[in-house]
Amino acid sequence: MTQPEIPHLFRPIDLRDMRLPNRIVVSPLCQFSAVDGTAQPWHWMHLGGLAVSGASLVIMEATGVSDIGRITAGCLGLYSDANEAALTKLLADTRTFCDTKIGIQLCHAGRKASTRRTWELARGNVLPPEEGGWQVEGPSAQPYADGWPMPVALDEAGLARVLDQFVASTRRAHRCGFDMIEIHAAHGYLLHEFLSPLTNLRTDRHGGSAEARMQFPLAVARAMRQAWPEHKPMGMRITGQDWNEGGITLDDAVMLAQALREIGIDYVTPSAGNIAPGMKLPPVGPGYMVEFAERIRHDCGITTMAVGMIITPAQAEALIAEGRADIACIGRGFLDDPRWGWHAAAALGAQGFVPPQYARATPKHWPAYPLVHGVRLRDGEGIMGHATRE
Ligand SMILES: Cc1cc2nc3c(=O)[nH]c(=O)nc-3n(C[C@H](O)[C@H](O)[C@H](O)COP(=O)(O)O)c2cc1C
Repeated sequence: MTQPEIPHLFRPIDLRDMRLPNRIVVSPLCQFSAVDGTAQPWHWMHLGGLAVSGASLVIMEATGVSDIGRITAGCLGLYSDANEAALTKLLADTRTFCDTKIGIQLCHAGRKASTRRTWELARGNVLPPEEGGWQVEGPSAQPYADGWPMPVALDEAGLARVLDQFVASTRRAHRCGFDMIEIHAAHGYLLHEFLSPLTNLRTDRHGGSAEARMQFPLAVARAMRQAWPEHKPMGMRITGQDWNEGGITLDDAVMLAQALREIGIDYVTPSAGNIAPGMKLPPVGPGYMVEFAERIRHDCGITTMAVGMIITPAQAEALIAEGRADIACIGRGFLDDPRWGWHAAAALGAQGFVPPQYARATPKHWPAYPLVHGVRLRDGEGIMGHATRE
């Protein structure tokens, strides 16, 4: 009897020495639940659940390289010994029950730092000084919008400090035991603010042409790459489109991805938007940003994660099978269904990781599985068989 083909979503992929047994990755998801940048019990629950979700890699949330680089006062940081100790323990504890790869997204929120947690936004976006808000910094002295704080424009000394902070957090991430690092250069945060002509109004060597605007983000990436072990991968979340008139275009994103590849960055995840008010969003639906990944992958040959409303296993399987992306990066799908990876394995007829403590809730052992998840088992397999693709 011929073995069924392994679905594309469940074929391994290597990023340097990090082997991912499947192409399902949990996208970074801010939890706004840290104290002074330090992980709390919530993070143990959150990472623990996602580490046994069937994804091969969980990328932890946007983590500030400095206290003033955090998006909110509740964001994780990796700038103090206390931050480092907590994340070291979190990773060690998680590794006692699974070997899912764990990455971290390092971030400086630039002029969009010092905001409120998402569930407090009804009281306004900006965290005022009387509630602990802080002075923000960016490429230029231009606030995000009316009522937002005026950033200090970083001078050469300020840029050197921020670069050093990215490098110091990189070294801490290695000591914590992270398998990979993602640099956050999207969503309107500092590195994106340098890249976009809408927010980079500088007249020095860091402003003007696309090459000049790329200079600081590339310098950061280069320095981080040098500080990070050769065998571990490093990627960048970039912007495929600003969706604001006069902003970054997909051609700019291709140029950046090419430059990143040349300096040893292993993958990019193109996201989009949030650089400035007045975005003209395209219709937002399943796979609405896959076109960015597809073009970048095709033009640059760099490993590419697609993100944005990848909802069903069939959709994820198709985008890998059709060569539109190398990896499916999924955010809200995993918050909604922290067993997304198991369900994808069952739906596509693949083997996925399920911890032995939970194995009795899989198709092999639980007769109700097909009823709950709409998966059809192969004839004759009964409760001891495996789900298969239909
Ligand atoms: C609660 C929440 C937190 C997020 N936090 C981050 C983050 O820390 N870093 C980041 O790059 N994107 C963040 N995002 C964006 C997601 O990673 C993802 O790109 C986006 O939600 C689109 O993918 P999805 O449709 O699969 O959720 C966040 C999204 C949500 C819903």
